[in-house]
Amino acid sequence: MKHKRLNDFLMAFDDIGAGIPLLFIHGYPLSRMMWQPQLEGLSDIARVIAPDLRGHGNSTTEISSGRNFSPYSMEMLADDCVHLLDALEIYHPIILCGLSMGGYVSFAFYRKYPHRVAGLILAATRAIADSQAAKENRKLAIDTIKSKGINPVLDSMLSILISPSSKVGNPALITYVREIMHSVSVEGMVGDLLGMMERPDSTPLLADIKVPTIILVGNEDQIIPISEAEAMHAAISDSKLVILPEAGHLLNLEQPDLFNDVVRDYLINSIRGDI
Ligand code: MLT
Repeated sequence: MKHKRLNDFLMAFDDIGAGIPLLFIHGYPLSRMMWQPQLEGLSDIARVIAPDLRGHGNSTTEISSGRNFSPYSMEMLADDCVHLLDALEIYHPIILCGLSMGGYVSFAFYRKYPHRVAGLILAATRAIADSQAAKENRKLAIDTIKSKGINPVLDSMLSILISPSSKVGNPALITYVREIMHSVSVEGMVGDLLGMMERPDSTPLLADIKVPTIILVGNEDQIIPISEAEAMHAAISDSKLVILPEAGHLLNLEQPDLFNDVVRDYLINSIRGDI
């Protein structure tokens, strides 16, 4: 694990391998540890970089503000990722892979820094903004965190993050994901929830995405219906949709070999010729 001081906080990240930079952005309420199979399985063909977003894993929360529960806007999280790339002196276009909230951050990143993106991998994510019902659920989660702590919210997330197939076939994954979730700070969880609630609809952006894009979704995802992945595929001209079997929301952990094969094939066939 490495660290870089970025403006107001210390960002922890992994950075291994050489070649085209492949930046993995984790979901809520997780950390860079969710990309372990990709760090191990793809660093022979790419420079795999996986940060802990602020307030998650081994990254600190913002240093100056204390516990003030400010929103972590998707744009601010995208800016943090760009500041990390700057600190690493990576100025040429990269491949961006975001899962779920990491996908929302990827849309914010592409909206603001399209010239820094050579390709997109959108995993278990959606373009649309929160519905009113989703916003109400996030408010309830914030109230629960403030009154009872993070555990009840983590327990209910854990029950829907992993597919029924993985719960039966890979119970060790439940322990691993629980461990990852417990590395997230209270400020990080509330910041994410507030930031996701206020994120804009990225549907209008989809037609402007001109880079080769892979959209991945698990056939047992309980958070992102396949129809949302299909809608993104229909709207992004140079995109391919891959539905992974026996996989839920954490498809890169549930089907690591299949996930890595898709990314490897994409790097070799769609990206290498373009850079
Ligand atoms: C995530 O996995 O990042 C979250 O489930 C996304 C969300 O709550 O919209």
